[in-house]
Amino acid sequence: KQKPKAVIVIFGVTGDLAKRKLFPSIYRLRQNGNIGEEFAVIGVGRRPWDNDTLRDHVEKSIENSFGMRENLKNFTSHFYYHPFDVQEASTYQTLGTLINELDAEYQTDGNKIFYLAMAPEYFGTVANQIKENGLKEGTGWSRLVIEKPFGHDLESAKKLNNKIRAAFEENQIYRIDHYLGKEMVQNIEVIRFANGLFEHLWNNRFIENIQITSSESLGVEERARYYDHSGATRDMVQNHMLQMVSLLAMEPPIKLTTEEIRSEKIKVLRALRPVEKDQVDENFVRGQYGEGSILDEKVPAYQHEAEELAASNTETFVAGRVMIDNYRWAGVPFYIRTGKRMTDKSTKIVVEFKDIPMNLYYENKTDKHPNLLVINIQPDEGVTLHLNAKRGGTGAFAEPIKLAYKNTGIDGVNTPEAYEKLLLDCMLGDGTNFTHWDEVALSWQYVDALLDVWENKTAHFPNYESGSMGPKEAEELLEKDGFHWWPIL
Ligand code: BG6
Repeated sequence: KQKPKAVIVIFGVTGDLAKRKLFPSIYRLRQNGNIGEEFAVIGVGRRPWDNDTLRDHVEKSIENSFGMRENLKNFTSHFYYHPFDVQEASTYQTLGTLINELDAEYQTDGNKIFYLAMAPEYFGTVANQIKENGLKEGTGWSRLVIEKPFGHDLESAKKLNNKIRAAFEENQIYRIDHYLGKEMVQNIEVIRFANGLFEHLWNNRFIENIQITSSESLGVEERARYYDHSGATRDMVQNHMLQMVSLLAMEPPIKLTTEEIRSEKIKVLRALRPVEKDQVDENFVRGQYGEGSILDEKVPAYQHEAEELAASNTETFVAGRVMIDNYRWAGVPFYIRTGKRMTDKSTKIVVEFKDIPMNLYYENKTDKHPNLLVINIQPDEGVTLHLNAKRGGTGAFAEPIKLAYKNTGIDGVNTPEAYEKLLLDCMLGDGTNFTHWDEVALSWQYVDALLDVWENKTAHFPNYESGSMGPKEAEELLEKDGFHWWPIL
């Protein structure tokens, strides 16, 4: 099989994303033989660096990610630095010349990736300058990879999209949602559609509810400025959480093509029941962390993490009841919750099946042990099925047992593998695990309804202790429906 070739231009190369995710991913692609020697990376940034500064920087990033490596010189020699001014046409022209030189030197067939790993206010300008200065031209393909945030609400996302679409076609745009690169997120589809056992039961006749939790123990860290402007809903729900909902709820695609899978996901997003203004409080809970302790270490409240956060009204936690109004899911709540400074770092999906109609085997007749299918996205990637079986010895009592499958060593928390897969997909021209504009727009439309209401109403923050699983209202959200969040040990 031919290995993909390209010149990869990273805008914002001096930033965090490049250091933590992109360099290690490119390194692994090379190490694993998914790309050959036919690649070059042009790092674009405002700082007055040169090739050597960038190469040292790349080397350090790789050492940090994987420990010491021998002979990184050959790898880092593929990296070139290009200082630039976002607005200045002449710097794009010199960039174009460099791309052409490297294309000839590394025989990349004129293929180009423009990766925007920079502040979103420049996305439109950069995309335009790329086009205006002819950087997309030539014999090979040109693709634009774009990181979130993709807008701040539907309106601004539309404006941004129009600007980008003026320079690139939809099928040249690869919008990253890094959750779609996670092994176990990709596995949702396979677990569902490759198992008759599940697929026949995957509907409102047999499923009681689905719970998706993505908790983090870290706080806002160094991202106060971005995060306070965003909050948990924009940061996690608009993208990662709703993407998981759509994969869990979609109909089987008729073929495994990008178009077919996307169109099924989009149908789910179209079927989301809009949250009316007067129903926000009933269906959604927002929270902000106060002080507390994580792993016996005292941590400060969100409002004390940075000066500008004092008196902040931004949510660091959100939980909600998402309803999907279609034949398969009518009446089945999808509960989602996500937040910072929670008990631990973990992303899990629990599918709660309807319980048996009458309970013959429990010692305590009020016991309830419905079957659960747990999909562990991270850490401990795997799948666990919770069943009931006879307790050993005399009597016919049931006890819960677990059948567990562990997907060892593929995807760890914060490892670069998700990016590695997505970058390779992009080089291969496979947009399946990227978000189409329609998905972005529908997700914004859904969360905008909550955000509008919240923006105009001061919250009583902080309302959950660091190290907990969020405010008590998030528990009550399920209790009202006769359910509870399944703690998964
Ligand atoms: C990012 C958010 O998209 O996802 C971060 O901006 C969050 O705030 C991160 O921490 C979580 O990703 P992961 O892969 O660590 O679960």
